[in-house]
Amino acid sequence: GGPVTVDISKVEPGQQIVVTWRGRPIFIVHRTPEALAALKSPSMLDRLRDPQSQALQQPPYAKNWSRSVKPEFAVLVGICTHLGCIPSYRPTVTADWPGGYLCQCHGSKYDLAGRVFRNVPAPYNLPVPPYGFENDTSLVIG
Ligand code: FES
Repeated sequence: GGPVTVDISKVEPGQQIVVTWRGRPIFIVHRTPEALAALKSPSMLDRLRDPQSQALQQPPYAKNWSRSVKPEFAVLVGICTHLGCIPSYRPTVTADWPGGYLCQCHGSKYDLAGRVFRNVPAPYNLPVPPYGFENDTSLVIG
């Protein structure tokens, strides 16, 4: 298939939607201000294997602190980089969990920018697919 256009106007802060692009699940998350702050917090960065995403898991225009074109929207290929399970969305922040994804197959964890934690089986951050914004409400993947 070709590019997929997604209306993001109804995606509330804190909500994730999942669309399919080239047979893959694509996670689109409207990140809250709290989630964005967590992405930059030193205690979070210490927990990540590749906090600056050096491993080329995103297009050049998403090589930044939020791994995205607009910080409030995350766009990620929702396939665990270990053995391909679909990580589950766990946005709720608790004392020992900064919000992100848990892969229930073998316990890999990612933050809300798809960055993998240390000491889990997954080797890389979740990829960011090619995408852009047609306007304020339409996101185009591919
Ligand atoms: Fe996700 Fe193994 S497939 S941790």
